[in-house]
Amino acid sequence: MPDPLCAAYIEFRADAHMQVNTRFPLLTSPARIGTMTLKNRMVMSPMTTAYCNDDQTPSERLIRYFEERAKGGVGLITMELITVDETHRYMHRSMTLGHDRYIDAHRQITERIHAHGAKVQPQISHTGPESVAPMFGGPQTLGPSVNVAPVWGWASRELDIAELPGIAAQYGEAARRAREAGYDGIELHAAHCYNLLGSFLSPLRNKRTDDYSAFRAETRTRLINEVLGEIRARAGDDFPVTLSISGYERSPGGRSLDDTQRLAPELVAAGVSCFRVSGGISDSLVTMMVGRSEYGDAHNAAQAEAIRNVVDVPVMLVGRIHDPEVGERILAEGKADLIAMARPLLADPELPNKVIKGVPRRIRRCISCENCIDSMQSRDNLGCAINPFSGREGELAIQPGRRNVVVVGGGTGGLEAARLAATAGHSVTLLERQRRLGGSLSLASTVHSDNERFLQWLLGEVESLPIDVQTGVEATVAGVRAMKPDEVLVATGARVQIPPIPGVERADVLTGSLLRQIFAGRLEAENNHRLRNWQRILVEFLVPRCQPWMSPRAMRWLSRVWMPLGREVVIIGADLVAVEVAEFLAGRGRRVHLLESGRKIAPEVGKKRRHEHMDRLDRLGVTVNTGVEIRRIERSAVIVATLEHESRISADSILVAGEPSRDTGLADALGAAGLSVRVIGDCRAPGSLIAGATTAAAEAVAALGKPAAFAKCSNKELSNA
Ligand SMILES: Cc1cc2nc3c(=O)[nH]c(=O)nc-3n(C[C@H](O)[C@H](O)[C@H](O)COP(=O)(O)O)c2cc1C
Ligand code: SF4
Repeated sequence: MPDPLCAAYIEFRADAHMQVNTRFPLLTSPARIGTMTLKNRMVMSPMTTAYCNDDQTPSERLIRYFEERAKGGVGLITMELITVDETHRYMHRSMTLGHDRYIDAHRQITERIHAHGAKVQPQISHTGPESVAPMFGGPQTLGPSVNVAPVWGWASRELDIAELPGIAAQYGEAARRAREAGYDGIELHAAHCYNLLGSFLSPLRNKRTDDYSAFRAETRTRLINEVLGEIRARAGDDFPVTLSISGYERSPGGRSLDDTQRLAPELVAAGVSCFRVSGGISDSLVTMMVGRSEYGDAHNAAQAEAIRNVVDVPVMLVGRIHDPEVGERILAEGKADLIAMARPLLADPELPNKVIKGVPRRIRRCISCENCIDSMQSRDNLGCAINPFSGREGELAIQPGRRNVVVVGGGTGGLEAARLAATAGHSVTLLERQRRLGGSLSLASTVHSDNERFLQWLLGEVESLPIDVQTGVEATVAGVRAMKPDEVLVATGARVQIPPIPGVERADVLTGSLLRQIFAGRLEAENNHRLRNWQRILVEFLVPRCQPWMSPRAMRWLSRVWMPLGREVVIIGADLVAVEVAEFLAGRGRRVHLLESGRKIAPEVGKKRRHEHMDRLDRLGVTVNTGVEIRRIERSAVIVATLEHESRISADSILVAGEPSRDTGLADALGAAGLSVRVIGDCRAPGSLIAGATTAAAEAVAALGKPAAFAKCSNKELSNA
């Protein structure tokens, strides 16, 4: 337990009892990190953005991105990883404080963030084995031993003992520059067996036998202690230092929680003012660092609590604290003093203000889709699927207006477009042919419940705005024209094409389009033969009437009672929807086989998300065969061939996923009738998922009032511009 007589501790804890009149008294109460006073206990955890300039200085785009979070009410922003050595870049576009010439550029960030009352600190780090320098002809990477970078695959050089004082001095100099640039403190990165300090701290990477060995308790923290000494000497004893550390490494041979408890007081004595506690080690998909939803809420809480019990400085917890209720409870239970959030503040920069105002239901909560990691790793450009404005704060501006806007389609794109247009002051009518809003996001929320948070948020926002929502209404050219719209935004979704597999027309084969039509309570003629008469009546009569009550949650419940599928299910096609359906069915006791003629499953998503699905499919016992030729469908079996060898896979039920394709029929007709039309989401770009739909919606609403390219190029070239 912390020494109760320690003055700093008493003063700090006293802050926690300040009365704040909200539903979140602890989260919204002030706190201290050393000499830094925070207006509340909500902290932005570092996220690499790759938004900076090529010369490693902050860009206007980056500053606006942080400014938006500062305006959103967060107490402290810990910026992304910033290097202490400009020759050892972290990414192609990452920042450095490795020379005095960078100080002025950083002063712009601190001034603009301080203007909104938030504190700000850089996460400073020597990239060690993780540098991308070799990619640009730079120096070889450095490590305690020869370490391989999981993402890049190259091996580092073992640092000579004589080089270490120079590296410690680089940290000290970077901290001094941070202070001169106006930062309120720094975060020192030593977590996840990653970068230089994290590598020195862990026996998994530090195989040295000298005085910096990780195998002996007394030498394990030696480099960190020396770095802290240099920081104090050059930036001052009173400059707050948060240490980012893994409570334990969750890996065989890695550091234990006992070890962190033992070394934490020693680190406080060396100059640490606060700990940010996470867990695990880093791999190429940041599996343990950026945890998926199965990790559960606040999965590092026990580690933070264990450290908090042995130190007299504040402890900050990070890792899936995506709901303020969870954060408040952790503070109330005394498991941490501050709550750090990364993805939640990407998804909704206004989260802290909504907590302060006591309106948590208005928070756009992260859906753990991993688009942020995948977009950064594949396109070097951080983006959030549900917040298209993230990283485009200056560029994607929506102007107030008073136009008459008709939105056709109440799925992701249509709901987001209606919400944005109404917020900007336009008069909005939303037409949806089903009796329930949500479109394919409802289906996606049924099979993958993480999505439901976004659906519920969209529905809640649309309900709270003055939008004329008309459900159960088929949009026609005449009907839309009668509304005299200035602009029509069409978001009617994709058409699903069924592949020409011999036997696919069999009545006992289910298709993706049939499932959607059953869900919508509206069968198209092509599918009539697949259902018996009583089933058709059920679908066309009962489903539309039940639709208003058929929330994804209700559908999930119902599916536990009954589904029109046998025990053994073969799914042909493995796009994201098919993969999620496979998981859903396997979770309900079906034996599922996924067959895909391409090489990848879920090709629409990035590596991290795909691997999460692969893991889940494995755990659920789904067999996955890619690169197979689907020869034909027979009664209760699919015939496939691999390397010309034919095999028969038996099934009680066969489901053909089909391929989504562009469906601009209505948009074409509206455009031909002389209306100003913009097309959003899957009907224009099938497979663009939630990210594509929200981005297209935001771009379309931002362009309202400008000429719509559609009218000029008719159905040849559809554009939102
Ligand atoms: C896109 C992205 C980039 C990240 N970059 C960093 C980083 O530069 N340094 C770091 O220590 N953690 C980084 N993290 C990890 C986060 O700080 C945080 O620990 C993790 O996302 C778990 O918190 P969350 O559940 O609130 O997102 C990153 C996370 C994301 C999603
Ligand atoms: S991209 Fe997905 S995982 Fe990342 S912050 Fe946005 S919603 Fe969350």
